[in-house]
Amino acid sequence: MKPKSISNATNRRAFLKTSGLLISSSLIPGVSNSQTFPSSESSQIRTLGSGANQLKINKLGLGCMGMSYHRGRIPEKSVSIALIRKAYESGVNFFDTAEVYGPYTNETLVGEAIEPFRKDILVSTKFGFNIENNQMAGLNGRPEQIRKVAEESLKRLRTDVLDLFYQHRQDPNVPIEDVAGTVKDLIAEGKVKNFGLSEVSVETIRRAHAVQPVTAVQSEFHLMWHRVVENGVLATCEELGIGFVPYSPINRGFLSGMLNPQTKFFAENDNRAGLPRFQPDAMAANWPFIELLTDFGQQRGLTPTQVSLAWLMKQKPFIVPIPGTTKEAHLLENLAVADLQISDSDWKNFDESLSKLTVEGDRYTPTERNRVQN
Ligand SMILES: NC(=O)c1ccc[n+]([C@@H]2O[C@H](COP(=O)([O-])OP(=O)(O)OC[C@H]3O[C@@H](n4cnc5c(N)ncnc54)[C@H](OP(=O)(O)O)[C@@H]3O)[C@@H](O)[C@H]2O)c1
Repeated sequence: MKPKSISNATNRRAFLKTSGLLISSSLIPGVSNSQTFPSSESSQIRTLGSGANQLKINKLGLGCMGMSYHRGRIPEKSVSIALIRKAYESGVNFFDTAEVYGPYTNETLVGEAIEPFRKDILVSTKFGFNIENNQMAGLNGRPEQIRKVAEESLKRLRTDVLDLFYQHRQDPNVPIEDVAGTVKDLIAEGKVKNFGLSEVSVETIRRAHAVQPVTAVQSEFHLMWHRVVENGVLATCEELGIGFVPYSPINRGFLSGMLNPQTKFFAENDNRAGLPRFQPDAMAANWPFIELLTDFGQQRGLTPTQVSLAWLMKQKPFIVPIPGTTKEAHLLENLAVADLQISDSDWKNFDESLSKLTVEGDRYTPTERNRVQN
């Protein structure tokens, strides 16, 4: 299966123009053409991985988790299916899900939504947990479990191959070489196309990559969480020709500026209710991030979310964010970022101000933190 060859670029451009989302500096008072302007079509395509293990991604990916899991009220299935199809019509060719999102229901949703255009797009999913009583129940990276998840994910996604199969969290009881070797076998059998890792250390990446070239590492990275820069993961990806997919690129919605200390989370299905960084005091203490984004965005006709995504994409050309949303308006707002170019000199003051800000509150609860290799 070939990645979508970014068809209909002209139509998409026309669509963005008519929907007012093609951001042109000429429309923004006080911003010259050297600062913000529409980019060429080809610059919308980013590559994850290299050689035989690469994927061509148009614009940004779409994180589908929140349509079923951890992000509050679950929309009607028909609404989410329409949203995924709207993303495809708008040029998205990369959709992210996982077995544990639901569990299972998110893969089932994505499978139904993408079926009509499956051959034109790329789908990524993840293995790595036991699921008991319909809940995530500890890590399991054993080869037989990886094979079982692959077979079941193929069925739920209504496909015969998984374009990108990530280990969601590393199992300390299974050598990473065994995991990489199992995925390598699945690739040889034609069930999987590419191998990915999530929240792993440099050492794990190197050991895995030596067995089966890794196409993408997916870990948390955004304006309020730069650990992959500090721990060398991003530099290692660059050195080895591995793509990087920052998850929660809007810091689970916080960087949109639409969440605040008064926000009441729908705790039954929103893990933010229990995350230290989403407690009212932490959100109040972290408000300077929103002020910085708002100030930068207001001068350029951009929303805080768009500035957050543009900031991530300017870090490296091999970065493909996968913002999640349940709303068409947000989807289109986020995709418009692929058309932006903001000069390095414009970012200079922003980065200086950013470096002075400190973050209040941990990103995860202790249980979740123990599963990631910082
Ligand atoms: N590998 C891993 O361990 C891991 C962990 C977490 C997530 N992920 C992946 O990353 C994807 C994204 O992560 P995420 O959902 O945690 O965080 P995110 O993308 O940073 O934020 C999603 C939240 O932002 C809101 N949002 C999106 N666009 C917006 C806009 N333009 N304006 C205002 N609000 C906006 C969404 O609400 P609305 O629905 O109202 O738009 C949603 O609540 C997931 O879908 C999943 O595929 C992977």
